[in-house]
Amino acid sequence: MEIKRLDSLQTLVSLCKRRGFVFQSSEIYGGLNSCWDYGPLGVELKWNIKQAWWKSMTQRRDVVGLDASILMHPNVWKASGHVDNFSDPLVDCKDCKARIRADHLEEKVCPNCGSKNLTEPRDFNLMFKTYMGPVAEAGNEVYLRPETAQGIFVNFENVATSMRMKVPFGIAQIGKSFRNEITPGNFIFRTREFEQMEMQYFVTPGTDTDFFDNWKQTRWDFYKSLGLNMENLRFHPHGPTELAHYAKQAEDIQYKLPIGWQELEGIHNRTDFDLTQHQNLSGKKLEYFDQAENKKYVPYVIETAVGCDRLLLTVLCDAYREEVTNKDGKEDVRVVLGFHPSLAPVQVAVLPLSKKPELQEVCFRIDDELRGSGYKVQYDESQSIGKRYRRQDEIGTPLCVTVDFDSLEDKQVTVRHRDSMDQERVGQDQLVAYVKKSLHGMQG
Ligand code: GAP
Repeated sequence: MEIKRLDSLQTLVSLCKRRGFVFQSSEIYGGLNSCWDYGPLGVELKWNIKQAWWKSMTQRRDVVGLDASILMHPNVWKASGHVDNFSDPLVDCKDCKARIRADHLEEKVCPNCGSKNLTEPRDFNLMFKTYMGPVAEAGNEVYLRPETAQGIFVNFENVATSMRMKVPFGIAQIGKSFRNEITPGNFIFRTREFEQMEMQYFVTPGTDTDFFDNWKQTRWDFYKSLGLNMENLRFHPHGPTELAHYAKQAEDIQYKLPIGWQELEGIHNRTDFDLTQHQNLSGKKLEYFDQAENKKYVPYVIETAVGCDRLLLTVLCDAYREEVTNKDGKEDVRVVLGFHPSLAPVQVAVLPLSKKPELQEVCFRIDDELRGSGYKVQYDESQSIGKRYRRQDEIGTPLCVTVDFDSLEDKQVTVRHRDSMDQERVGQDQLVAYVKKSLHGMQG
């Protein structure tokens, strides 16, 4: 058997549409560029990803959660440097009117029409502006947040005081961010509306380098725990020209997507830049009193930031495989999403061999029992059992439970395993325990 990995995002885009993971936004109106909607399976996968991240971040004594608002005081973005610095160099093609990121141009030639008639680069701020209240005028301008991090910085004092947190401690948050990217694209890799999962870890200055290294390892281990193929992950340290304006040190975790090695997550040492900036502009002290050391200081911050949509794309690409077999000169291709069982949008499919009511009744009972035990279940009775198995393989369901006519007599069902395609007869009264053991066994 030959195993083929995903070699083009287009294959994934059509699978995602066909199987209810991701749809083009506003498709019936011709779509909206770079905006995507998560379908029934996509939204489950996204929840599972967020839950895995949230669990890994907040099920520890030193990190707590937050959910800050998307709209914030405009001064937040002045202090953070986004008003002055959060821009990309933009050039316009005077012939075809395409807008291109100057730093993405390999030659001074329009990639759209080949024209050399381009404007000089100018800074284009990536923040989306809107108006607060009924009057659209300059004084009412607010921004849709371009990162979730600032909601954490401006709440540093609130969280530290209300939760009696002692440095070192972290604040974790999941939420939408918006960037008016000049060139979004590659499916959900770069979009204008996306979700971030960020954590800011506040430390004593001088301990920042050690914590930076600790978080690198912790984040690496997280990806390993999701069952990703670790040979497709690597660290990419930022050189001096890549460093963001707020960072002293930064490393990306990159993943080898079909479009090449790309940033999945950024880990930054942001020093005391943000807290100091907010302290200066707001006039509110954002210092921490360290009782053990008997001194006050503005903590340094180690940040870990990953895009939820980008991780979802990574998980899909990583899980995708085609198993190609040749039987009697005929090629057969089995498409499988080999998700880690904790991420699979459907964990168990319940399938009656036929649509007969007596089989349906047993299926519904099993379906209810598995759902009641906390598993994500899909009931499917349409088309042949072979086609249904293949459909479940394509959405990454680890286990299929088939109820046949023998099940009415011997009170057993057939459990089919996604990866090995092995089938086993299991007593109906043993099924929940069997599912638990099998999914646990797949976690590696
Ligand atoms: N607070 C730091 C920060 O926002 P970033 O590197 O700009 O850092 C962090 O963003 C992560 O957010 C990226 O590694 C990426 O996974 C995700 N991300 C950034 N821009 C994105 C976009 N336009 N579309 C999808 N994900 C994006």
